[in-house]
Amino acid sequence: MSVLGVIGGTGLSRLVNLRDVHKRVVKTPYGEPSSPLTFGKVEGREVVFLARHGYGHTIPPHKINYRANIWALKEVGVTDIVAIAAVGSINRTMSPGNLVLPDQLIDYSWGRPSTYFENDLEQVVHIDFTHPYSVRLRADMIAATQRAKLTLVETGVYACMQGPRLETAAEIKKLARDGCDLVGMTGMPEASLAKELELDYACCSVVVNWAAGLDGDSIDMQDIEAFAESGMLKVEKLITALASKVTQ
Ligand code: HPA
Repeated sequence: MSVLGVIGGTGLSRLVNLRDVHKRVVKTPYGEPSSPLTFGKVEGREVVFLARHGYGHTIPPHKINYRANIWALKEVGVTDIVAIAAVGSINRTMSPGNLVLPDQLIDYSWGRPSTYFENDLEQVVHIDFTHPYSVRLRADMIAATQRAKLTLVETGVYACMQGPRLETAAEIKKLARDGCDLVGMTGMPEASLAKELELDYACCSVVVNWAAGLDGDSIDMQDIEAFAESGMLKVEKLITALASKVTQ
């Protein structure tokens, strides 16, 4: 049976609906994950939660130990990872407050340890990454949003920027020309590490702002916080609906 892992990002440092909770620190060959793992049940289904930036939201995107995070989830038996990501929108049809399930990504991040396949190899390993997100888990998430009567944009291209600063208006124009719809800072190397460990991984993006230059001269952090808060209520509903249908 599949075991669901949830990686919470900005605005989601715990799952309100998680019952019978206990926490465990998991050590990995790559060091410690961002936070102890929280084990619990949603609708009777086992769920493991990890706060990507730490429980106190203290770890910036480029300092996250992505390898330890994904390794720890695999180590405790997680098979499916739903990664929650607050993002800016570059696409006029994806407004703040919307949930989007990207089907593609472009990686603009740099300098992040990004593979498990680098030391003591018998042979060089290149994973297939044509479809960065699990087709099966994405379908389950689409079905779950329908059951929960939530609106979801079912495709999109996620751009992973380095951060922690937000982008310039010119950078966002370039990302638009590249075909990107959403911009965030944590989607990579998380997705490819999950693929390296053969985990089913999908990203639920929560649009929290218009990307730089799309709506006025600056981005208001208070607006981001407000959209993150309301968006995460929808995410909780999605996770509950997903957990209530146990997939084999
Ligand atoms: N850019 C990059 N990352 C983000 C943004 C943004 O506008 N909003 C939330 N995460």
